Amino acid sequence: MGGTEKEARQAQFFYGLVQKNVLVTGANGQLGSELRKLTDRMNLPFRFLYTDVDDLDITDREQVAGFVKEYRILYIINCAAYTAVDRAETDAETAFAINGKAVENIAAAAKREEAKVIHISTDFVFDGHSEIPCTEEMIPHPLSVYGKSKLEGEKALQAAGGEWIIIRTSWLYSEYGNNFVKTMLRLMRERERLTIVDDQRGGPTYAADLAEMIIHILRFSEENEWKTGIYHFSNRGETTWFDFAAEIGRQAGIDRCTLHPVKTDEYGAPAPRPAYSVMNLSKICAAFHVEIPEWKEALARCLGKMRG
Ligand SMILES: NC(=O)c1ccc[n+]([C@@H]2O[C@H](COP(=O)([O-])OP(=O)(O)OC[C@H]3O[C@@H](n4cnc5c(N)ncnc54)[C@H](OP(=O)(O)O)[C@@H]3O)[C@@H](O)[C@H]2O)c1
Repeated sequence: MGGTEKEARQAQFFYGLVQKNVLVTGANGQLGSELRKLTDRMNLPFRFLYTDVDDLDITDREQVAGFVKEYRILYIINCAAYTAVDRAETDAETAFAINGKAVENIAAAAKREEAKVIHISTDFVFDGHSEIPCTEEMIPHPLSVYGKSKLEGEKALQAAGGEWIIIRTSWLYSEYGNNFVKTMLRLMRERERLTIVDDQRGGPTYAADLAEMIIHILRFSEENEWKTGIYHFSNRGETTWFDFAAEIGRQAGIDRCTLHPVKTDEYGAPAPRPAYSVMNLSKICAAFHVEIPEWKEALARCLGKMRG
């Protein structure tokens, strides 16, 4: 081996050792975009590799294995998912491929290369029959294809036996992507009347707050220890879709549209949804010493960002 080539290899090896490469999948989605914005303005001891399906398709087992090995990935934050809850009812194959089988690909590559995985799951793994906020110990029982596919992903990650953290979140919104907040803002400006479901209770989550939580976990793990497990994360408090919409309208100062409550059955969405999926946040707060912002305050911050 020539001198220069050898030096280059040594430098590359050293670079690989000192650098903490973090792979983010599904980076063009709501959460991935919030993560990118957050990490761009922070001085962190990590190098983030942001990928979406065009750069790294998580359903491609070889591609995932190759990427994790080549870039000496230490952490994987899996934001990639099939999130079209209603469409999943008639497209189960794709939903399971992305939310289930592909998580197995990530888990296998991570196990082989000793990377740690932060995977995002959903409150839709629950059936909504609980009368108290759902804890991580409660047995999941998803109602929808989407919920079932996400539960399969959770199980695949746990079965692989590596080091993992699953964060279940709910009612995610952001200034990026498609979500309830953006849809409500648009429809309330376009229409004089809207019907909104008022018999499902859950916890809205500002994706920027979840992104902060994820970065906090990375730093906590570097400075303290990795804590494999399932954790629930949303903003604090609970609401219904109807009251959430009313609060969006109130905070945005839109008063020309009247909201009418409707029951889930009357609304008739293709996918069944849990009637009650409020999550208990005690475990994540205690494990990582965090306080989580309340949902109305988080909404105000998001609307502020949207106003620019
Ligand atoms: N949105 C919610 O209300 C909600 C609620 C609870 C939990 N969650 C969970 O939170 C996480 C983040 O959700 P999000 O709202 O940020 O999702 P999102 O906006 O739908 O983003 C997901 C991203 O993954 C990409 N993707 C799809 N298939 C892929 C593949 N094979 N390989 C790589 N990337 C792929 C998508 O690309 P395309 O757009 O081109 O498909 C999209 O950019 C997900 O795990 C989701 O299940 C979301």
